[in-house]
Amino acid sequence: MSAFDFTPLLAPGLPPPAARWNGLAKYSFVGGNNDPDGVPVEALRKAMNDVLEREGKDLATYGLASGPQGYRRLREFLAHKLKRSAGIACIAEDILITSGSLQALDLVNGIFLARGDTAIIEQECYQGSINRLARLGANIVGIPLDRDGMRMDALAAALADLKRRGVRPKYIYTIPTVQNPTGTILSEPRRHELLRLAGEYGVPIFEDDCYADLIWDGKRPPALYAMSQGVTPDVGVVHIGSFSKSIAPALRVGYIVAEWTLLSRMLAIKTDAGSGALEQMALGEYCPAHFDSHVPELTRGLRAKLDTMMDALNEHFGTAAEFDEPKGGIFLWVKLPDQVDTLKLYQCALAAGVAINPGPEWSVDKGASRSHTRLCFASPTHAEIRQGIAILAEVCRREFGVPLRSANVARA
Ligand SMILES: Cc1ncc(COP(=O)(O)O)c(C=O)c1O
Repeated sequence: MSAFDFTPLLAPGLPPPAARWNGLAKYSFVGGNNDPDGVPVEALRKAMNDVLEREGKDLATYGLASGPQGYRRLREFLAHKLKRSAGIACIAEDILITSGSLQALDLVNGIFLARGDTAIIEQECYQGSINRLARLGANIVGIPLDRDGMRMDALAAALADLKRRGVRPKYIYTIPTVQNPTGTILSEPRRHELLRLAGEYGVPIFEDDCYADLIWDGKRPPALYAMSQGVTPDVGVVHIGSFSKSIAPALRVGYIVAEWTLLSRMLAIKTDAGSGALEQMALGEYCPAHFDSHVPELTRGLRAKLDTMMDALNEHFGTAAEFDEPKGGIFLWVKLPDQVDTLKLYQCALAAGVAINPGPEWSVDKGASRSHTRLCFASPTHAEIRQGIAILAEVCRREFGVPLRSANVARA
């Protein structure tokens, strides 16, 4: 390393430095990672081979031969799939492929938010979304959730309060279909109410739907984007999604569905000359033939892992771990007894080889989520889930005195 001091030259306002990668914990319940056995490796390999053989020379052109919105065959597949599964009427021209839906979040934020603007989000929410808003200097208004998703009475009160104060929020951000971290699905009556409120107050809806394919019974309500089509008064909706949860997160392929007046503004700030082409080509080749049979198979495996995790929590934590069974997805949102500070539990558990996500990082109400933790059950094996939860219970008892009973044995 050179002795040159770069520090005084760094731009002001940078976030704190990233930590160095130290490898995954032995028992990892963190992040939005997927089930390694659920990745359709062989079919992806064949798809990649076939598409490269046929269209490989298109790699000589930025954006392939499809332009800046992304690989055309993939956008056509998405238009077809979104119609079938979510009720969204759109065509390839309404879709922008992004480098994961994280880039979609950046692009939507990029065209709407200036420092001091207000954004409404769910009180418990995806950390990546909360952090982005905080970094942009947005005023974040959190709306509590219950078992049916975002509470519309609380949203109505917040909108009325903001209006009284002369504030027009830039958007209402929601993860309505298998919410992160709570696993809830916004009920259809609430979807209607959300659209009504958005129309009444003239506030757009920002719908983040990346878990919508992973529902145990495969039945999802129509997307807010779909329900907004043809309603009066007009409601603006931006819809984003991802292949991270249905295929694999390391591919880094997400998408935005929006009208051209918005996509054209997003394209103007998407300055990367196109998202990675190989992964788009592989998905564009793989998905039309395989997506529909792959997803139920993946979901069955996830459901089995959820059962193992709930079982292990019941065995090792007993009534000390409270949770509602999620309707799909990859996370369980767990409430531990009030004396448990999960920011501290996180550090002690990590020292014992178990990684968990502490609740306060997934909420705009740090106090209310102090004793919650988010556990990802998709990436560990069944055995790792059992062993990791047993160790977590031991650490929790050592540090906080709970749970008192584990595996039906009373502990000192
Ligand atoms: C709600 C939500 N939105 C967006 C993302 C970003 O995912 P990706 O960039 O992999 O598509 C995640 C990842 O976990 C998420 O949970």
